[in-house]
Amino acid sequence: MAAILKFLAAIMLFTIITKGNCQCTLDDIKVSQSQTGKTVPNKQEWRLTLNNTCICTQLGLKLSCKGFQTVEPIDPSIIAISGDECTVVNNGNPFYGFTTLSFNYAWDTSFPFKPISSQISCS
Ligand SMILES: *[C@@H]1O[C@H](CO)[C@@H](O)[C@H](O)[C@H]1NC(C)=O
Repeated sequence: MAAILKFLAAIMLFTIITKGNCQCTLDDIKVSQSQTGKTVPNKQEWRLTLNNTCICTQLGLKLSCKGFQTVEPIDPSIIAISGDECTVVNNGNPFYGFTTLSFNYAWDTSFPFKPISSQISCS
């Protein structure tokens, strides 16, 4: 019995250590959107914020943006649209842990941007 408990304790400790080191995933990128209150020609302006809620840096983060439309050009230094994918460029910088990025666009409704891939770098 004592041996089993020791073994379990060791596993738990190991899990805590590896978690502390890095256990970030794509799910740690939180997407939130809100209306800015402005209208750009006849469309609502939206502000999308990406929040990297984990310690690790995410590189080459891609969002699905199939069917995305905007009447307001989005900031190309933040996001590059190519086909069905939008790549977070952030002026050529990685998306560091515990930081946020935002950009505005304008359309009738908000667009459901969703993170689809990234490389997670923990050092
Ligand atoms: C990002 O997420 C963290 C954790 O959920 C939260 O505390 C923080 O306020 C968020 N930052 C922004 C700018 O939304």
